[in-house]
Amino acid sequence: MKEKINVGILGATGMVGQNFIRLLEDHPWFNIRFLAASERSAGKSYREAVEGRWHMDGDIPESAGDLRVDRVGDLEKAAGVCSLVFSALSMDKASIRDLENRYAAAGLTVVSNNSAHRNSPDVPILIPEINGNHLDIAESQRQRAGRQGGLIIVKPNCSVQSYITPLYAVMAAGYRVDRVLATTLQAVSGAGYPGVPSYDCIDNVYALSDEEAKFEREHRKIFGQVSDGVIRNDESVTVSAHCNRVPVIHGHTACVSVGFAGKKPSKEEIIRIWNEFRGEPQERNLPSAPAQPVVYREEKDRPQPRLDRDNQNGMGVTTGRLRDCPILDYKFTGLCHNTVRGAAGGALLMAELIAARMNPDL
Ligand SMILES: NC(=O)c1ccc[n+]([C@@H]2O[C@H](COP(=O)([O-])OP(=O)(O)OC[C@H]3O[C@@H](n4cnc5c(N)ncnc54)[C@H](OP(=O)(O)O)[C@@H]3O)[C@@H](O)[C@H]2O)c1
Repeated sequence: MKEKINVGILGATGMVGQNFIRLLEDHPWFNIRFLAASERSAGKSYREAVEGRWHMDGDIPESAGDLRVDRVGDLEKAAGVCSLVFSALSMDKASIRDLENRYAAAGLTVVSNNSAHRNSPDVPILIPEINGNHLDIAESQRQRAGRQGGLIIVKPNCSVQSYITPLYAVMAAGYRVDRVLATTLQAVSGAGYPGVPSYDCIDNVYALSDEEAKFEREHRKIFGQVSDGVIRNDESVTVSAHCNRVPVIHGHTACVSVGFAGKKPSKEEIIRIWNEFRGEPQERNLPSAPAQPVVYREEKDRPQPRLDRDNQNGMGVTTGRLRDCPILDYKFTGLCHNTVRGAAGGALLMAELIAARMNPDL
């Protein structure tokens, strides 16, 4: 690429923001030019702002350490300099929605990790291997918002990603899934830093009641179709979820049972479908795309968070333990790295897809 695309990070100091800093170091297409966070970080160098709370392996990248952190409200400093911002803010939803709208109105593409815009009918919840075609909604979204440029797209809930690409791969191969029953075992890093109090977390499992509605809803939009300027949900799959926080640092696991409507594939065929599945990021050879988005492990005790979360730099989904289900048809375990594929890495792949679609020469 001749000239890199300048990007910013809103919420650069948090758990997901730090992952963006790490993943964007020496990125072949993107260059960080704007960092923003709350009042407590504003005015400091990035190194000073994250002192004592840098949670990534390795040191703070030199190139980011000296950058100044601005307030997220200082969007005029990003407009005209950056063409895209990654949003990794933890604030109340109304404030995030307002901020993301303002960045988009200033002409920037906003790739958000937050759920504030997930229910807007013209905002895609994007998984690049599944629904890149939802980017076709860009013009309708701009028209409805009365903007010249700018676009908002959001990433799905991190726990959904542990099973939805395997599910989609089977559906894309021509099999109709109509029922899913899933129990998640979600890592503590999903709650940011400091996140879950140790007294609640160690020696304990507790329910994430608020996550369950998202888990049961988001696939409908992801599998939906763009029509008349909105995304129309696909209602063909009913999902029932139990979501739980467990004392694991990184890696969300989902134990999933699946029921088919009509013809069902054999287990051998499902495993072949998963291992051979490729999507648009693989076809376009995007820089952060895992070569194999779904990897099936044959061992009877895999996947495990510690052993499998870093599958292809945390971008691959690992499945295993596919077996008959006495209630639905089959059951399996899925695992993804929640702060990489489930957050910053997934968002980075979304941005790469947008860049590649806009600039075929990449
Ligand atoms: N952690 C995960 O696995 C994960 C996965 C998927 C999605 N997400 C989503 O990603 C977002 C970020 O999560 P996180 O885990 O990185 O959270 P986090 O570690 O708590 O970081 C929050 C970030 O937001 C900034 N912030 C907080 N209050 C602010 C305010 N009033 N004004 C401006 N900036 C403010 C913080 O800045 P200061 O440092 O200056 O306070 C920090 O940069 C959330 O929406 C979360 O739901 C997280």
